[in-house]
Amino acid sequence: MQFLWFTLPSFVVLLSLSLTTSLPIQEPFNHCLTLHSQTPNQFSSSIYTSTNASFTSILESTAQNLRYLLPSVPKPDFIFTPLDDSQVQAAVICAKQLGIHMRVRSGGHDYEGLSYVSLIEKPFMILDLVKLRAVNVDIAHNTAWIQAGATVGEVYYRISEKSSVHGFPAGLCTSLGIGGHITGGAYGSMMRKYGLGVDNVLDAKIVDANGRVLDRAAMGEDLFWAIRGGGGGSFGVILWWKIKLVPVPQTVTVFTVTKTLEQGGNKILHRWQKVAPKIDEDLFIRVLIQTGNGSVPGKRTVTTSYNALFLGGADRLLQVMKHGFPELGLRRKDCVETSWIKSVLYIAGYPDGTAPEVLLQGKSTSKAYFKAKSDFVREVIPEKSLNALWKVFLQEDGPLMIWNPYGGMMSKIAESATPFPHRKGVLYKVQYVTGWLDGEKSMAKHMNWIRKFYSRTAPYVSKYPRETYVNYRDLDIGMNKNNNTSFVEARSWGYRYFKGNFNRLVKVKTKVDPSNFFRHEQSIPLLKPLA
Ligand SMILES: Cc1cc2nc3c(=O)[nH]c(=O)nc-3n(C[C@H](O)[C@H](O)[C@H](O)COP(=O)(O)OP(=O)(O)OC[C@H]3O[C@@H](n4cnc5c(N)ncnc54)[C@H](O)[C@@H]3O)c2cc1C
Ligand SMILES: *[C@@H]1O[C@H](CO)[C@@H](O)[C@H](O)[C@H]1NC(C)=O
Ligand SMILES: *[C@@H]1O[C@H](CO)[C@@H](O)[C@H](O)[C@H]1NC(C)=O
Ligand SMILES: *[C@@H]1O[C@H](CO)[C@@H](O)[C@H](O)[C@H]1NC(C)=O
Ligand SMILES: *[C@@H]1O[C@H](CO)[C@@H](O)[C@H](O)[C@H]1NC(C)=O
Repeated sequence: MQFLWFTLPSFVVLLSLSLTTSLPIQEPFNHCLTLHSQTPNQFSSSIYTSTNASFTSILESTAQNLRYLLPSVPKPDFIFTPLDDSQVQAAVICAKQLGIHMRVRSGGHDYEGLSYVSLIEKPFMILDLVKLRAVNVDIAHNTAWIQAGATVGEVYYRISEKSSVHGFPAGLCTSLGIGGHITGGAYGSMMRKYGLGVDNVLDAKIVDANGRVLDRAAMGEDLFWAIRGGGGGSFGVILWWKIKLVPVPQTVTVFTVTKTLEQGGNKILHRWQKVAPKIDEDLFIRVLIQTGNGSVPGKRTVTTSYNALFLGGADRLLQVMKHGFPELGLRRKDCVETSWIKSVLYIAGYPDGTAPEVLLQGKSTSKAYFKAKSDFVREVIPEKSLNALWKVFLQEDGPLMIWNPYGGMMSKIAESATPFPHRKGVLYKVQYVTGWLDGEKSMAKHMNWIRKFYSRTAPYVSKYPRETYVNYRDLDIGMNKNNNTSFVEARSWGYRYFKGNFNRLVKVKTKVDPSNFFRHEQSIPLLKPLA
């Protein structure tokens, strides 16, 4: 703020010292940007404060969890939307210099809103990468360089525009930001064949805590390891990912088959646990578990929808199912043969016949107030225990569980190859979700239910640690209370997300960001608290 003071007489300087806290902090930030950015710009048109009419719409634009937009939740002092890499560098340098706490947002899908809300520090700003969304596909080399603000849907579309036999194995939901998504793993319907997004990253460009742009060679293998699964917002700002494209067949097959409890759903689901992680790697069958009206009037039931992608045609799929999972009773007419890009729309839940160009809008299809949690299952849950769980499941209005098969390529990659440790021995991942639309009104009820259900499933899931997916961030399992949480305290949640890899993440963090500039409620802590 010196630039405002030095022309004033010294007594005014003394006076203004006590007033500096009420000066709008975006002003010195703006000034600092003009000093540090290599590209001259009218920065005021990229800085939004609550006095700007568009502040709320920008803040809310990609925020996926309405729970973190409630009036009672802290709001950023300003949002900055950089237009190129050098403006990201300048933003890091200036926020650091001015002591402004920074949150980085790519696609805004963080389950606990950490990319746009700080529950622990004020003032804070959002560095929103929404305008950095180039996708440069190089089919000749099977690669693409992607800017962090692009959605996975845009990535898939741009690949399919160049080739119908190339794809990328990342998320099912097409509005995810590639920037944040890959930092935590990035799974999707090709994971059994090709692993996760992080398993298919070749290079990256990041801005570190000193404002330098580093690629893989410059950052070194430790940091390059950490950013591929160690969670967003701990090590630097990802500007670009370089990904490896994977082959997909000209024709793939999708299906959805639903069974209620009355239709033998419990027995089939029990069987699914054994077969889905072992079946042909070309086949990914997830199960969406919800409640609905059953055949008995007035009695709600549990519905299990088997939602699948097969990397091949229907004839071969029917053979695979006949041998591997005949209990589901898949028929030819259940199967839809289509292109890979259309299978993306199908799995994402777009209505039949939606044109792939919808992906270029980069918009999420629905938003809600929600809370979610996750588990990894390593032993088959007995039929009897499943039946007991349904009783608690049916107590909630609109509960959802998604069971996601592992095995295949996921078992072939070592636990320490990337920070994402949930590999060999995992049968499937469970995600629990409860969503609602009336804001704070019914929030406590839903939060209570999901915590209760989660405590009921404890006996059946991984233990010591009870593993959890970092991209399904869950603040119930612990958080940094401030700037200065010790490594020892953070182990409670760190081991659950990363198992033994947590120790290496802490070492890398301590080396590359010793002042803990990149921090949030669940950022990787330093080895020793700051002195
Ligand atoms: C509806 C929905 C569906 C989902 N489906 C899947 C799925 O199919 N597969 C899957 O694996 N996950 C899925 N997820 C989880 C998703 O992968 C994570 O929420 C992921 O973090 C989202 O990335 P983002 O850029 O959209 O989020 P953001 O909220 O922008 O960021 C998430 C975290 O990363 C940090 N971050 C963001 N951008 C950067 C950057 N450029 N550099 C460094 N740090 C950054 C943020 O500060 C924050 O801590 C889903 C989430 C939702 C809400
Ligand atoms: C926000 O308002 C200020 C003051 O009126 C203006 O200078 C600035 O350009 C506005 N920002 C945006 C992004 O429109
Ligand atoms: C289920 O039944 C109830 C009551 O009969 C009805 O209001 C509701 O719309 C039905 N839901 C569905 C999904 O059919
Ligand atoms: C947190 O630590 C940073 C870096 O050392 C420091 O600049 C900042 O003032 C601290 N914030 C709080 C709230 O303690
Ligand atoms: C951080 O915590 C340690 C130990 O709890 C304490 O000694 C130190 O003063 C704290 N540092 C800051 C910057 O708050």
